[in-house]
Amino acid sequence: MIELTPHLDATKRIPLYEQLYEYMKREMLQGHIRKGTRLPSIRALSRHLSISRNTVEAAYAQLVAEGYIESMPRQGFVVQEFTEECGANGSLQKTYEHSPPTDAIKPIYDFRYGNIDITHFPHKVWRACMNEAMDAPLDELLWYGERQGDRKLRQEIVRYLFQARGIHCSCEQVVIGAGIHQMTGLLCQLFSSETDLIAMENPSYDGIRAVFTNHRYRIVPISLEKDGLNITELEQREANIVYVTPSHQLPLGMVLPIGKRQRLLKWAEKIDGFIIEDDYDSEFRYEGKPIPALKALDTQERVIYIGTFSKVLTPAIRVCYMVLPVRLLETFRKKFSCYNQPVATIVQKALALFMERGHLERHIRKMRNVYAKKRQALIAAIDENFGPNAIIIGEKAGLHLLVRFPHVTDVSGFVERAKHEGISIYSAAKYWFDPTTSPLPYILLGFGGMSEHEIKEGVRLLRGLFDAETLF
Ligand SMILES: Cc1ncc(COP(=O)(O)O)c(C=O)c1O
Repeated sequence: MIELTPHLDATKRIPLYEQLYEYMKREMLQGHIRKGTRLPSIRALSRHLSISRNTVEAAYAQLVAEGYIESMPRQGFVVQEFTEECGANGSLQKTYEHSPPTDAIKPIYDFRYGNIDITHFPHKVWRACMNEAMDAPLDELLWYGERQGDRKLRQEIVRYLFQARGIHCSCEQVVIGAGIHQMTGLLCQLFSSETDLIAMENPSYDGIRAVFTNHRYRIVPISLEKDGLNITELEQREANIVYVTPSHQLPLGMVLPIGKRQRLLKWAEKIDGFIIEDDYDSEFRYEGKPIPALKALDTQERVIYIGTFSKVLTPAIRVCYMVLPVRLLETFRKKFSCYNQPVATIVQKALALFMERGHLERHIRKMRNVYAKKRQALIAAIDENFGPNAIIIGEKAGLHLLVRFPHVTDVSGFVERAKHEGISIYSAAKYWFDPTTSPLPYILLGFGGMSEHEIKEGVRLLRGLFDAETLF
């Protein structure tokens, strides 16, 4: 049985029964109320909408007369199969189909950034943790939870950050959030758009730029050098907060070297500023030694660290976390003392158990191998199909890389042509503050969500978009 909530306006000259009838007919034609749906009884709907039974009865009678619904024994009114326009009396014979919008048609090979491997998700273990979390004492389970997040989960994050990212922090500094946009939104409220000025790498994550802009912050783009943020340029600008992705720059993929990290920390200390470190995918590093987070060097409490479970586990649980510098804790607590924790208690408890039992580390170890193979397959496929006609950058970590085909100058045209072949590839231009000034036409290829076979096939088909003579 469904609930219906039409907007009925008694001040209109159209009778209420007709408004209700029109509403239901439209919803059925648009596929929102489907064939076989049992409608509320006349009495229930009249009570729910505070209208008379006669009104509902008249609307239903009209729908019955036109063949949209039928009164069935012991079931009440049930939506029928009908033809477009006029139901059973219809003049049109075409059965109504709820066709998906064209952009919902799935590509065959989707190199989308942000997709992860779902075939290796540890379903069984996660389900067991969810079940066990359900057994927590009810007074812990069925309430809003601690404002900064479940204490056990925060303790697990402290342990994890120390082991995996070299960060020393306390549980009191950790705040659980529902994704980086929500979390950055809190930071925007912690600072002031009137007095604080934010610097960002150019190019950088457009999703975060949108959060700052929506909170009316002025943003200063800082250019990138081969080894990341141009610190000299930052020092010359008047910004007092900088958002960076030092362990795997998004989108170009470079790692900020130790010398620049130290300069950045000094900059923040000198101007009494802050650094927002977005450490979104550093767990997946395929070459060289693991690099500790910038926060690991932060002896002066200047770095606000943000991490996420979206890449290492799944974005579906919507859990990220932030480590606040001690100097910001009091202001943060005062400001948000009446904000409730946005992540579901049960999910936090399940995640805490998942981490406590060592499943997260195991899963990351496994996925590092899985993604390393995918990355290798992608690099090999590009090399095999394009040789020197493709230039790859940013491939040492994460779940994406950038590629440039010197023969392609019109990236959006190329992306369109690929789409017609069932391959989704993405221009990286949107990451630049002014996409028209992106220096080189890069294409971003995410490989996390594709199988090795799909990667190879997708790249092979891309090769088919070029004439043989153009390339070789
Ligand atoms: C640069 C960057 N930061 C953070 C995130 C994680 O965001 P969330 O935790 O909302 O999934 C992503 C996800 O794609 C990202 O690209």
